[in-house]
Amino acid sequence: MASAAHRAILTLDKRARAELKGQKPVILWMTGLSGAGKSTIANRLEEKLWLCGHHTMLLDGDNLRCGLNKDLTFTDAARVENIRRTAEVAKLMLEAGLIAICALISPFRRERMLARQLVGADEFIEVFVDAPLDLCKRRDPKGLYARALAGQIPNFTGISSPYEPPDTPELHLRTDRHDVDALAGQVLEALRHRGVIAGTP
Ligand code: ADX
Repeated sequence: MASAAHRAILTLDKRARAELKGQKPVILWMTGLSGAGKSTIANRLEEKLWLCGHHTMLLDGDNLRCGLNKDLTFTDAARVENIRRTAEVAKLMLEAGLIAICALISPFRRERMLARQLVGADEFIEVFVDAPLDLCKRRDPKGLYARALAGQIPNFTGISSPYEPPDTPELHLRTDRHDVDALAGQVLEALRHRGVIAGTP
């Protein structure tokens, strides 16, 4: 059946909304294994941006799975839907003029590409939060790797479900080599370089 929905014509656009906030709206898409440090870096980055007077929204996979995405499991199909919904919400955040920080495993290249294609070429920054699987297993902050290795969690990323690292991310953060503060600083610097936020800290 044909949809009866029509797009409303709105007076304000994302540029107008973002201008008031003194920033260019972007989606920062953080992808990486569980335990790689996505949420930790995203959180520190959001603090730093807030301290500089910027307007952000953090969309964290774990948190979204408590609400909007609570009906989704971890099968490939459910993850595809998880990424699709999150990308659509991030696009709305972009329309609101915000710097939308997404932190979710998002293990599939194809779905990350689809998320990228939802918005303009300069509005999507893919950030690979990279730590070797062995290190993530040793960190195991939520004890999930131990449970997955014991066969108690099916489809666990890196153990029984694949992770496809980005080929050409805009930013590559090595969490085995640098601390959280330095890495969040690297992202901030990249945002300045791209004119997303003003030049001086
Ligand atoms: S994604 O693959 O669909 O992007 P998402 O980032 O939303 O994943 O959720 C990952 C979080 O869910 C992990 O940080 C972990 O806490 C939890 N989790 C529970 N089960 C799994 C699983 N099978 N694979 C990966 N993470 C899981």
